[in-house]
Amino acid sequence: MESHLKKLKDKALEEIKKITSFDELKKIETKYLGRKGELTEALKKLKDLAIEEKPKMGQLANEIKVEVEGFLSKVKFELQERTEEKASNVLDITLPGLKKPIGHLHPITLVQNELQDVFRQMGFMVIDGPEVESEYYNFEVLNIPKNHPARDMQDTFYLKDHDSWVMRTHTSNQQVRALEQYGSPLRAVFPGRVFRYEATDASHDTTFYQLEGLMVDENISISNLMAVLKAMLKAIFKRDLKVRLRPSYFPFVEPGLEIDASCAICDGNGCSVCKQTGWVEILGSGLVHPRVLEAVGLDSKKYSGFAFGLGLTRLAMMKYGINDIRLLLSGDKRFLDQF
Ligand code: FA5
Repeated sequence: MESHLKKLKDKALEEIKKITSFDELKKIETKYLGRKGELTEALKKLKDLAIEEKPKMGQLANEIKVEVEGFLSKVKFELQERTEEKASNVLDITLPGLKKPIGHLHPITLVQNELQDVFRQMGFMVIDGPEVESEYYNFEVLNIPKNHPARDMQDTFYLKDHDSWVMRTHTSNQQVRALEQYGSPLRAVFPGRVFRYEATDASHDTTFYQLEGLMVDENISISNLMAVLKAMLKAIFKRDLKVRLRPSYFPFVEPGLEIDASCAICDGNGCSVCKQTGWVEILGSGLVHPRVLEAVGLDSKKYSGFAFGLGLTRLAMMKYGINDIRLLLSGDKRFLDQF
């Protein structure tokens, strides 16, 4: 029995070494280890041995079985490796192509583009302007002289060694620049990034976007302002948002107004963005102050105009239900991938 088992083992290992395909592997496996395989049959015969021979032969037969199984697994693994290697060298033109990741527009840009389209349809030009601005255009010509308390409302970053230059605090810097260039009549919007030195919270950031609007002509009134703003809100939110007007003070308009929209994040019920009031301040506005018109040589008895400065970042938050302004410029891909 012992020599029969050893011969069987040598024969099996010899044949296993020659295997070159899965088909051959399967055949050899069945030949030795199948239900009627040679090794299986030999194991069955152990029961007929004399009782004193059984333990020794049983142990030998099991060792041989384990060894044959081990060799078969090794060959199987090698065959699999070779098949995968071959597959990776083959160009399968029927496989779907690999999608290249491409970027997409930032939610603020999406809203900016939408707003620009809406205003273009109403005959407004879209004009870009500088982010680093002289105190003259950012403050002085807007009726905010040095040491005027209104400067405290928009504290900002001054340029080192150039303290009459600031990071602009609002897009209103563009009002006089555009009037100087185009005169009256003028309809223009000025989108862009602005900067303020202030504490951040869910609705305030130090860097955010505004979109300034300016319309100057004869007989322009608050009614024109309201008509334009309502058309803009309807186009962006595709529904009538509740708005409320509050008298306010900006030195470059008279009268001055602040406009709040009912908070689209909590539907006016109160949340961290609207500070539990149900309202979000979206823009400051008013009729252009006669001094601003006169600074560019326009007769303020003949011409009038409205101006507004819309919080573009806040509008994007309302449109997309973003409950913390700091997410927008965080650069967090998990947030950005949602748009
Ligand atoms: C101004 O910036 C004026 N230039 C607006 C203006 C233009 C008034 C023309 C009259 C005529 P204010 O500081 O309120 O105003 O800002 C305008 C809007 O910007 C606010 O209504 C708000 O929506 C947004 N905003 C202001 N501060 C922040 C901030 N820190 N973070 C995010 N949005 C802000």
